[in-house]
Amino acid sequence: MLIRKHIEPPSSEITPEREYLNRRQFLGMVGSMGAITAAGALTQAVLGAVQPAGAQQGEELTDEEKVTSYNNYYEFGTDKEDPKANSQRFRTRPWTVKVEGLCRNKGDMPLDGLLSPSKVEDRIYRFRCVEAWSAVIPWRGIPLADVIRRADPLPGAKFVEIYTLLDPSQMPGQRSGSISWPYVEGLRLDEAMHPLALLATGMYGKTLPNQNGAPLRLVVPWKYGFKNIKAIVRLKFTDSQPTSTWMRAASNEYGFYANVNPTVDHPRWSQARDRKLGDLLRKPTPMFNGYEAQVASLYSGMDLRRNF
Ligand code: MTE
Repeated sequence: MLIRKHIEPPSSEITPEREYLNRRQFLGMVGSMGAITAAGALTQAVLGAVQPAGAQQGEELTDEEKVTSYNNYYEFGTDKEDPKANSQRFRTRPWTVKVEGLCRNKGDMPLDGLLSPSKVEDRIYRFRCVEAWSAVIPWRGIPLADVIRRADPLPGAKFVEIYTLLDPSQMPGQRSGSISWPYVEGLRLDEAMHPLALLATGMYGKTLPNQNGAPLRLVVPWKYGFKNIKAIVRLKFTDSQPTSTWMRAASNEYGFYANVNPTVDHPRWSQARDRKLGDLLRKPTPMFNGYEAQVASLYSGMDLRRNF
């Protein structure tokens, strides 16, 4: 996610082979085989409970340890290992989400009140970072559409703008100007209402770890990882397209839509393939990260090269 003009990458945007090989040597072949077997068992266990929408039958889950220790979360630092190291004392309770803008039911919602009317679901989704690494993750959460319906948007609401907590006393990264704070993302209202869009509160059958966005983060699996905003405190319904943090930082590199699209390269690297955390080889990245059948109709008639 790094932008040349701001800061040079402290670690490569795409995990270098050297680092990968080191990790592999560290784990050793026996260790990795064990992890794969455990992940396979977990897939079965989780699949027993999941909602079918978007569930990735037949794909191995990524090792939990990798997903919780290789993170992008600039509020806690720009190296992949920083979020885990620096977020352990982050306070995720009490937590309030402000619902505002063009909707009938505005207000400050305590997190439990926001979540409790909905049924919590487990869903396995592919995750694809714009940096060309990927994962398969069992999430736990509620449909974003539920929260939006309860907010009752006005007819003029066309987008939802989503904000991360701003608290430099707890988030050391916010004391520097690497990107603008607070982190902001946005979706068109029909994207946000799509049944695949999840507000996650957990992963791997447990509460969401702080480094992965506790207590509440967005998961939109057909979009690049940076749309999946963490530590959400505010949902604002608007009539105009929000400017996201990464658009503000480098609009030629990161667009509003950020749909996974292997035919549109990032200006500095190819998006044709990705490497799953823990894998040796890159594999072709599918259109919309494999969710084309579910989401392509949202973009019919749009030029996906211009609306990247
Ligand atoms: N949300 C906030 N608030 N701050 C961030 O820096 N990074 C994004 C996204 N959400 C980020 C964020 C990016 S670039 C990615 S790839 C994913 O979180 C990474 O999620 P993960 O660390 O759980 O894999």
